[in-house]
Amino acid sequence: MIKSRTAMALKPPPPQDIVIMGASGDLSQRKLIPAIYNLAAVSLLPVEGQIVGFARTDLGEQGFRDLARRSIQEYSRTGFDETVWAGLVPRIKYVKNDDHSYGSLKRVLRENERLVYLAIPPSALPDTITGLHDAELSQGTRIVVEKPFGHDLASARELNHAIHKVFHESQVFRIDHYLGKETVQNILVFRFGNSVFERVWNRDAVDHVQLTVAESVGIESRGTYFEDAGILRDIVQNHVLQMLSLLTMEPPSNVAPEAIRDEKIKVIRAMRPLNPARTVRGQYTAGTIDGQPVQGYREEKDVSPESMTETFFAAQMEVDSWRWAGVPFFVRTGKRLPRRATEIVVQFREPPLCFFEGTDVTHLPSDHLVMRIQPDEGIQFAFLAKKPGPEISVQPVMMEFDYSSSFMTSPPEAYERLLHDVMVGDHTLFMREDAAERAWVVVEPALNNQAPTCMYPAGSWGPREADQLIAPRKWHLH
Ligand code: BG6
Repeated sequence: MIKSRTAMALKPPPPQDIVIMGASGDLSQRKLIPAIYNLAAVSLLPVEGQIVGFARTDLGEQGFRDLARRSIQEYSRTGFDETVWAGLVPRIKYVKNDDHSYGSLKRVLRENERLVYLAIPPSALPDTITGLHDAELSQGTRIVVEKPFGHDLASARELNHAIHKVFHESQVFRIDHYLGKETVQNILVFRFGNSVFERVWNRDAVDHVQLTVAESVGIESRGTYFEDAGILRDIVQNHVLQMLSLLTMEPPSNVAPEAIRDEKIKVIRAMRPLNPARTVRGQYTAGTIDGQPVQGYREEKDVSPESMTETFFAAQMEVDSWRWAGVPFFVRTGKRLPRRATEIVVQFREPPLCFFEGTDVTHLPSDHLVMRIQPDEGIQFAFLAKKPGPEISVQPVMMEFDYSSSFMTSPPEAYERLLHDVMVGDHTLFMREDAAERAWVVVEPALNNQAPTCMYPAGSWGPREADQLIAPRKWHLH
C-alpha cells in the first residue's frame, strides 16, 4: 500500500482509454466522473486516451458532456475549474448501448489499453463480458466490477467463472470503495507501524471489538436495488468484512499486493459463518432525522408495503484464529440511524481492582481505542487518569489524533485512489476471487435464515434487540 501511494504521487498512469458502462447512472454521476475530473486536476489521469460513456440512455455526445459537467459541479470535492474541464472535454465521448454498440465502442477507442468500469446491475454483467469478448476488446482491458459481487455464493462462483472465460484474474478489479478510504488503509499502518499497539492486539488484551457503519440517509432512490440486496449484501458482505479483515489479519511479509491479499483471505477463512441466533435484522419505520420527519422504509419508492428487507443488521462474529479465538466482534450497520458514523472500537480488558482496594473506586471503565473511519477522521485512545485531589478517584481521559489538524487536509475521495490503482495495475486494494467468494460463506447463514425483522424508528440507533445482543456491554455510539 505504501509503495503504490508513493507511485501515485509521482506520475500519471500510461496512456489508456477509460470506458464507463452505465455512464448515465447514479454511481457514474456522483463518484466516477468527479473522480476522473479530480485525477485530471492533479495530473494523475493518463495524458492520452478517451473517456467514453456507454449506456442505454439516448444522451448523445453533447448530452453526456453536459451531464459530466453537472456531475462535477455538484459532486467534485475540489470544486470546478474551467481550465481543467477544457482539457477534458475533447476526450469525452458517448456511445449508446444498443444492438451493435460494441463495434461502435471499439471505433471510438484510441489506445491499446483501457479501463472498463462496469457500473451496471449484476444481471447485465454476463452479456457485457461476452460483448467485450466478441468485439475483441478483452485484450488490453482491465475490468472493474462493483460490489456486491454476485447475490450469494453460487452466483459469485458463476460470475467468477463467466469472467474468467474471457479475462485473466490479473485483469479483474473487484472494487469495494471502503478499501480506498485513507482511514481504512491507515488500519494497517497503525497496526504494523506502531509496535506498542500490535503487542496488545490479541485475545490476551482485548475484551471485544465493535464495528459500526451508521448512515442517516435512507435508501435514497435505490428502492429496486435495495429490496433485492438488503443491508447484509449492501454493506456487511463487503465493507464490514473487509474492514474486519484488515483489523484482524496477521502481518503480511511486505506491502506487495499478493502478500496482503494472502493474509486477508486467511483471516476471512478464519471468520466463523454467522450464527443466525446471534444476529439482529431491522427495518426503519417513520421517524425524525435532524429534526425533520422522514418516511418509513415500506413507504419508500419501489419498495413493497409488506417488505421484510433489512435496513439494519447487527451480529456477533467470531474469528477462529490463534490470535482472536474467544474475542467477540460486534458489528452493526443501518440506514436512517441518527447520524453518519463509521467507527471501530477496540475495548481492552478490565484490569484487576486489587490496587484500589479500600478506596472509593469499585469499577474501572476499561481503556479503549476508537478508530473514526468517517467523518471527523482520526483515532482516539481513552484511558484512566487520577482525578486531582487528596483521595484516589479516576476519570477517563482522551488522547486524540485528528486527521484534518495533523495533515491540514481532508482525505481524498476513495474512488480517485482506486481508479488510479486500476490504471497502474495495482491489485492491493481489490478483492481477489477467493476472498469475494469466501465472504459469501461467512454471511450466507444469515441470508438463508428467515429471522424476524425488528422495526426501529428512523433516527434511533436501531432495534433494542441490538442492545440485547451486545449486553452486558454497550455500544459505544448510542
Ligand atoms: C455503498 C452502499 O457501497 O456505500 C450504499 O451501496 C452506502 O448503500 C455507501 O450508502 C456508503 O458509502 P460511504 O463512502 O458514504 O460511507
